Amino acid sequence: VRRFVIIGQNANAAGDFSLDDLPSTSGRLDVLLRCLRAALLVSHGLRRDARAYLVLLGGAGAPKTLRFDGDTARYLRPDERSLAVTVKKVLAVTVGSGSFSEVRPGISSCEAGLEVVLSDVPARGAFLLEAGAPDVRESELEPHDCTFFLGDHLGLSAETRQKLEAFGVAKIGLGPLDLHAEDAIAVVSNELDRRLLGADPR
Ligand SMILES: C[S@@+](CC[C@H](N)C(=O)[O-])C[C@H]1O[C@@H](n2cnc3c(N)ncnc32)[C@H](O)[C@@H]1O
Repeated sequence: VRRFVIIGQNANAAGDFSLDDLPSTSGRLDVLLRCLRAALLVSHGLRRDARAYLVLLGGAGAPKTLRFDGDTARYLRPDERSLAVTVKKVLAVTVGSGSFSEVRPGISSCEAGLEVVLSDVPARGAFLLEAGAPDVRESELEPHDCTFFLGDHLGLSAETRQKLEAFGVAKIGLGPLDLHAEDAIAVVSNELDRRLLGADPR
């Protein structure tokens, strides 16, 4: 499984955002929804070997973390609005804070933040994506079993960085420019696809 963990510093955990104006009412949940699409969806289908975690650290009820499993998720559509509707419904369900509870097929929720992710993923093969870090193309990673942590439009807080460093993440980069988080996921996904399937599998 390839896993992507996107940490939304202000992303709304209460679900009380407006579907008609996500960017200014949801703490930029729209950024995380585009990351979700990039991590889990290909043209006409789901990546069965991918999992995405959205860590929502903003608004009343924060922290909350949602987990989307490509192997069991259904009815995920690529448009942001439909993903926002799904997230709103999932956030309306009360869950515990100790571990993930599945609230829809392939979608689980927990009333906790980064800690629940760190107890759900292996420390081996965990990477922090950061511009300027050692290049992914030169990296030794197991494409079947790896985890990538990303910040949102604000990057990562010092507190989150400390937790990730204590977890033992290795830093990995995607070239010289600071990319949008969803584009960073697309580049990593393509790198893993090439390692697993070859550059030209025709
Ligand atoms: C829009 S960027 C964050 C920009 C923010 N101003 C900062 O300085 O961290 C969102 C996330 O995408 C990832 N990212 C963006 N460009 C990258 C690159 N060139 N290499 C690796 N990760 C990158 C990082 O995880 C980053 O936190």
